[in-house]
Parts: sequence; C-alpha cells; structure tokens
Amino acid sequence: MGIAENLAAVQARIEAACARARRDPDSVKLVAVSKGHPIEAVLAAFAAGQVVFGENYAQELHAKADLLSEAEWHFVGALQTNKVKIVVGHAALVHTCDRLAAAKELSKRAFSKSFTQRILLEVNVGREPQKEGALPEEVEALYAAVRELDALRCEGLMCIPPADQDPRPHFRALRELRDRVGLRELSMGMSADFEAAIEEGSTLVRIGTAIFGERPRPAP
Ligand SMILES: Cc1ncc(COP(=O)(O)O)c(C=O)c1O
Repeated sequence: MGIAENLAAVQARIEAACARARRDPDSVKLVAVSKGHPIEAVLAAFAAGQVVFGENYAQELHAKADLLSEAEWHFVGALQTNKVKIVVGHAALVHTCDRLAAAKELSKRAFSKSFTQRILLEVNVGREPQKEGALPEEVEALYAAVRELDALRCEGLMCIPPADQDPRPHFRALRELRDRVGLRELSMGMSADFEAAIEEGSTLVRIGTAIFGERPRPAP
C-alpha cells in the first residue's frame, strides 16, 4: 500500500477508537513521524492531507522543515542541550523536554528569537534507566519550575511506555498525572498501540511505521 492509503487507514482507525471511547475525533491530532524517511515520503503524505509531522533528530527536522515550511513540525526525539538551538525556530511543539536544564535552554533560545516555545514534558512512566523522561514524582516540581520561564508554554505530558509491557496502565497513569498537574495535552500512542492510547485519553498520537512503512536502515 502507498502512503496515502496507509494514512487513510490510520485515520479510520483513529476515528474508530474515538467512537469506542465516545470522543470527538477532532480531539486527537495525528503526528506523522517521518524520521529516517526521505522528503518525498513527507510530500506524499502532505499531498494526501497530512499537515503535522514529527522528527527525532534536530538536523533532520531543520532540513525537512526548510523544505516544507507549510507543514507543522514537531520535535519528538531525545533533546540534547547542544541541539536545542537547532530545534527552536523549527518545531511548533517540542514533545520531549525532560529536565530543567533543557527547559532553560529552550526558553533562552526562544526568547532570543522573540517567540514562545510550546513544549510537553516527557515522563519516564516505566522508570527505565536507559530512557529519557522525568520520573513521575518529579513532574509536578519540574512543571512548577518550567512555568517560571518566560519564553516557554508547557501544554502537557508525553510518554513512551516500555516496549515489552502492556502500555495501557502506563497511558492511564500518564493521564492521571496530567489531570493532577492540570494540563491539557497527552502525547502517547505509536503504531503498535495508538488505539489503546486514544481510549485512555491521548490528544497527540505519534505514528511512523503504519504510515511510512519500516524505517530504512542506515548502510552498515
Ligand atoms: C518518540 C517517538 N514517537 C513515535 C515514533 C513512531 O513510532 P512507530 O514507527 O512505531 O509508529 C517514534 C519512532 O522512532 C519515536 O521515536
């Protein structure tokens, strides 16, 4: 199947999940994760009506956002402090702010470009040592500190549950944390689990493989 057909199939599955959860389909935004795929694939999705794209690497985001500035670009990758200056100015929303140092750098760079950077806080819901994300018990303090920063607007929480576990309890825990903190957005759900994420309240699903196919592997 081609990208347009894949996209239509994903949209139909999003609508079905919304219907099951008695949710308005407009309350779920589809972020097409184009990491590792060529700009031609992005253009095919854009021609089929997809407007929001997610990228994991700062340089790749920069290059693709320059080639297709009409799209809305999100940054969904690990946020290295030294790459923040590339991300700011190219990402409408940064999903992966997970520590105060990164938040301060985002705010500093956004301030110098005279705009407000929208962000989400990434939460390490499975407490995995190798994963990015603030621990759940750190989130309220991190949010309080981030709110003090002039050029940031924190809109919600994001997670990537452990690959080898049922994601649903993690999605539910993130929603409860989001409600406790008092935020709006929930970035959760990828190709393998976005329907469960929608049923648990996701407002942003990040889907790559189901739209673009397997990511091409770099040459050995
Ligand atoms: C943070 C994040 N979200 C979503 C995706 C998309 O995952 P999938 O291809 O399983 O849909 C990726 C892929 O790398 C990712 O890193």
